[in-house]
Amino acid sequence: MSRTVSVSMNKKPIYDIKLEQDFAGLAPALEELGFKDRNAVLISDDKVSPMYSEEVTAELSKVFEKVTVLTFPAGEESKNLDSVTALLRGMLAAGLKRSDAVVALGGGVTGDMAGFCAAIYMRGISVIQIPTSLLSMVDSSIGGKTGVDLDQYKNMVGAFKMPSLVYINTSVLRSLDKRQFNSGMGEVLKYGLIMDASFYEWLLSNMVEIDDRESAVLEEMIEHCCICKQRIVERDPFEQGDRALLNFGHTIGHAIEKYKDFKLLHGECVALGSVAAAYISWQKGRLSKDEYYEIRDMFVPFGLPISIDDIDDEEILKLTKSDKKAALNGIKFILLKRVGKAYIEKDLSDEDILAGIKEIHYVESND
Ligand code: GLY
Repeated sequence: MSRTVSVSMNKKPIYDIKLEQDFAGLAPALEELGFKDRNAVLISDDKVSPMYSEEVTAELSKVFEKVTVLTFPAGEESKNLDSVTALLRGMLAAGLKRSDAVVALGGGVTGDMAGFCAAIYMRGISVIQIPTSLLSMVDSSIGGKTGVDLDQYKNMVGAFKMPSLVYINTSVLRSLDKRQFNSGMGEVLKYGLIMDASFYEWLLSNMVEIDDRESAVLEEMIEHCCICKQRIVERDPFEQGDRALLNFGHTIGHAIEKYKDFKLLHGECVALGSVAAAYISWQKGRLSKDEYYEIRDMFVPFGLPISIDDIDDEEILKLTKSDKKAALNGIKFILLKRVGKAYIEKDLSDEDILAGIKEIHYVESND
């Protein structure tokens, strides 16, 4: 079944998120947006490109006059200004003009980097997001955050660049590696925890179907996440308030990601950070003990970690606080009042944060 979620700003429709089961709806959607006979550059990484760029290019070519494919090496290590420069040179060599478009085909790194290239090339050209990982379908392709890492600082340089279209072909999830799929579930569970208790219950009662990747259940789940994200970004497109709630689990999560040198996946780190944040919420008297344990254990059936054995607690705390944005703007920690209701806490002590880190630090006992 085709589904469309429309995203507005100041009550004006800005772009559609289209959920489909193949790439066939891409050309008509782009034609409707007025891209006929323009040129496009398709940006993808060297893992996703061999899988889908031929099929997607064939669809794009029904509308665009010329489509040039640019690839970069897959992985977070590529998400930097050097790669951006190389891509911008590729766009220039392809003769891209202001009226042309960038098409991002891939996961979070691709969407962030291609979106950023589109934001700065000739002061901004159109971008179409075609996310191929669960994580990018439910979160990063929506809402216009783009950018790259700078030295050790994650997402330090970037721009808000709203896409012209987000086109999700859910059938590509069938071939997504299990660990990557589970990582995406870290962001899916986040929506239930921060803003929608009935979605949280729905996820728990559909965990078997989700794990089996039943199409109808996945489509419903992804659509619901898109609606959650749409609600938040419409309210606060530039993260001056509530959009920060989407960072639940990310403060300690990003620190672990950095500490482990990106060997753990983003959603795995978000799961660990979410358990730590739920624990702190319990310690602060917001959640009951039972609620905390229920939240913690919910990550397990979705293949996500709830503890980690080889971390240095003090180092994680240091990384949490040395995050450049946290250092410049102060840490905005996201805690839970209850399942389905998150809030921003600006006054946590080091001890509070450390207690959360210790909770997820698994230490084998000698008994
Ligand atoms: N991924 C968090 C946000 O879009 O704000």
